[in-house]
Amino acid sequence: MKIIENKEELIGAIANLKSNNKSVGLVLTMGALHEGHLSLVHEANKNNDIVIVSIFVNPTQFNDPKDYNRYPRILSDDIEELKKVKCDILFIPSEKEMYPHEDKREFDFGNLDKILEGKYRPGHFKGVALIVSKFFEIIKPDKAYFGEKDFQQVVIIKHLTKLMGSSIEIIACPIIRESDGLAMSSRNMLLSKEERENVSLISQTLLKARKMAKELNVKQVKNWVISKINNNPFLNVEYFEIVDDKSLESIFDWEQQNYKIGFIAVHIGNIRLIDNIRFYS
Ligand code: PAF
Repeated sequence: MKIIENKEELIGAIANLKSNNKSVGLVLTMGALHEGHLSLVHEANKNNDIVIVSIFVNPTQFNDPKDYNRYPRILSDDIEELKKVKCDILFIPSEKEMYPHEDKREFDFGNLDKILEGKYRPGHFKGVALIVSKFFEIIKPDKAYFGEKDFQQVVIIKHLTKLMGSSIEIIACPIIRESDGLAMSSRNMLLSKEERENVSLISQTLLKARKMAKELNVKQVKNWVISKINNNPFLNVEYFEIVDDKSLESIFDWEQQNYKIGFIAVHIGNIRLIDNIRFYS
């Protein structure tokens, strides 16, 4: 695995590979790698000659500076994890490398970046779009892989490629869960033992809600999920919305759309976790 910190060096290395007609799969991360990230690397290896992984904790996507400072950074462990899978190039740029000067570009995502996570983390998707567009411009991969835990991010990045006029194929990969159902997330490692025991209620409640949707209407399911989770003294639901999986607009009737997803954000102590689940009613 080649470790590169510098854009020019990376561009040179990729040009070399592309001149040999090699296809490039990209996995963008903020580090603190877990099985969810590694599943993206495995997927990228199935359909590309070369796999590039980036680790960069992107400051512009954090609406809360405390969240940015707390974000886990364990680069040497990450390198060890990546050595166990096939990662050809690891790109670990500095902040100066990615933002040599202020980047004022803005992308118009309509309502997509203003609802759900966008409503509660203002500016978050603006920062995600900025950094992802920079990585796409530098690396120009054939395919880029993202986890569906950040489902809204995947929808926005697909939109971003259209706005950029790019042919990069965005591949959405399923959420990877711990044995008790908790969606894998780098932030899980910040939980205390007690918090960790309690957060499994989130995914367990979503799974039950999917079953209950056969008998209850949308509003009843929403209320049930929120009160079930809020009844746990450790957990505090920020939002739970059931939305159409393309427009991400809320639905009010199961018949309204074919593909529905329940999105949730929950606070536990000073950690905020998100999850989502498909509804089939
Ligand atoms: O999903 C993430 O980890 C980040 O939002 C991403 C895509 C690496 C951009 O910083």
